[in-house]
Amino acid sequence: MNHFHYVGGTLHAEGVPLDRLAAAVGTPFYCYSTAALVERYQAFANAFDGRQATICYSLKANSNQAVIATLAKLGAGADVVSEGELRRALAAGIPAERIVFAGVGKSEAEMAAGLDADIRQFNVESLPELELLDRVARSKGRRAGVALRVNPDVDARTHKKIATGKAENKFGIDLGHIREIYGQAAKMAGIRLHGLAVHIGSQLTELAPYRTAFAKIAALTAELRAEGHEVDSLDLGGGIGIAYHDEQAPTLEDYTRVVDETVGNLGCQLVFEPGRCIVGAAGLLVTRVIFVKHGVERSFVIADAAMNDLIRPALYDAYHAILPVAEPASDAAVRRFDVVGPICETGDSFAHDRPLPPVASGDLLAFASAGAYGAVMASGYNSRRLVPEVLVRGQDHAIVRARPT
Ligand code: LLP
Repeated sequence: MNHFHYVGGTLHAEGVPLDRLAAAVGTPFYCYSTAALVERYQAFANAFDGRQATICYSLKANSNQAVIATLAKLGAGADVVSEGELRRALAAGIPAERIVFAGVGKSEAEMAAGLDADIRQFNVESLPELELLDRVARSKGRRAGVALRVNPDVDARTHKKIATGKAENKFGIDLGHIREIYGQAAKMAGIRLHGLAVHIGSQLTELAPYRTAFAKIAALTAELRAEGHEVDSLDLGGGIGIAYHDEQAPTLEDYTRVVDETVGNLGCQLVFEPGRCIVGAAGLLVTRVIFVKHGVERSFVIADAAMNDLIRPALYDAYHAILPVAEPASDAAVRRFDVVGPICETGDSFAHDRPLPPVASGDLLAFASAGAYGAVMASGYNSRRLVPEVLVRGQDHAIVRARPT
């Protein structure tokens, strides 16, 4: 169900009209729906019902403390990539045994923090990282739970800046080196090997790359076991895409089938690291139009939100649907606009040649599907303040991160 919908001519988040919210908190602001978060998380959890699966929500997609706490209450674990995210996960009440620490460049201090918290595992991406983790763990008289992240050399067929599974990418350990490094890790006194991890990219709209990657992981698992190693756990990463525009997102049912058919009979514990498919559609960025400017070649809608608030269009040419908060008449004339922010560079653009109903200075617009990689990627460029985040539940709302003074 869509929890952002028009009621009486006004776009609502659940039971809250967005024009009222804009008047209360000022624009721009991010708005998240609790019901949408709960629904998406539970759909993912239900899809793996009956299997030994741990869902480690990927905090990088949206690490607002209230969002994490909402998911923590539903039983979510966490995929963290920094000490900051680790602290956020713990503060939200996520048990350490459901936290995995990923990332290609963990510092010694971050390893120590993860060990002190007694997290489930570190996903290790290189031999130097493994050696340092072993040293740090031994110095504390501990053993670090470890999964070795495999680079399966698979093209995820997504935007090149968010593809991670090809041999040319910085991520993971090459397939050809894994067995040797697994053997070394098995002998390290500071390491307790759990198994393997893989993540081939984000915003995947096809399942075939998953099937190829997971099949490689299954074959590798068999080889490692044949050599006498234990492989108890497989972390299959995240990456399931969502429909921003006209793309077809994979269904959870089809994704589950791929998992079952590739690694389902290995008897391994499974870990998943979904981010975008949990929070992406659960958030909007609401902005007010400052000016409408008609140039010689094109017309511009100049919004009060900018690339520093939502960088995805500028960075990945990403598409976000634009919804007028006041519902347009069904027969409203449509014109094409470039929708831009006030920042002093041409890249500060949200949409090019976008058909929109009549729009005027003072109107409110909402960028859809901005719950993932929106607020977390914001910056203070042009000395603009970070925008507030609001969490709606039913008729209520709470400002879950205030606009800085
Ligand atoms: N696990 C690992 C190891 C990852 O690197 C990522 C995302 C995830 C899980 C979560 O992936 P998801 O389920 O959200 O696709 N800023 C970009 C996306 C970057 C994704 C980075 N890694 C964007 O706005 O599209």
